[in-house]
Amino acid sequence: MSDTRTRRVAGATDSQQGDHPSGDNRFDLVDKHLKRARYEQDQLIETLHVAQDVFGYLSEDILIYVARALRLPPSMVYGVATFYHLFTFDPPGDHSCTVCTGTACFVKGADDIVQAVSDTYSVPAGETSEDGSLTLKTARCLGSCGLAPVVVFDGNVLGHQDTESTLELVAGAVGGGG
Ligand code: FES
Repeated sequence: MSDTRTRRVAGATDSQQGDHPSGDNRFDLVDKHLKRARYEQDQLIETLHVAQDVFGYLSEDILIYVARALRLPPSMVYGVATFYHLFTFDPPGDHSCTVCTGTACFVKGADDIVQAVSDTYSVPAGETSEDGSLTLKTARCLGSCGLAPVVVFDGNVLGHQDTESTLELVAGAVGGGG
């Protein structure tokens, strides 16, 4: 995995600065899951799923973070992650919009948000737009149901979103859409 990819995750922007010791508040969501899972080693795959949902892909930094948290050898974590085709190691487009479609977010309109972003920017969920400017993803429960619907945009975890606020957010970063 290249240094560039590692730097992209390790180097959180100012807007991503949070209370987490790493300075990147996305790790808070991973930590929440780890706590709920009681740091059990058999939660490795589930933890990798959560980390991928939050970050959009699995960088070397993230794999090492998970390995340390679960007290597993990094080589084993890397081996498991590469064995399953469900995980991606490629960084997302210039901007990344992940909409939680877990039950709490779903009942509060998460699917409408996904559809609106998908239609406006001609990018199917799970893919990156042709010009590489936007990656649209969906995630299972991100563990912050009280904030439903939750959208993670460029690493910022945003609660109580709707179609309008999300489109505004994306337009502010990517432009008006096709
Ligand atoms: S269902 Fe979206 S945060 Fe739980």
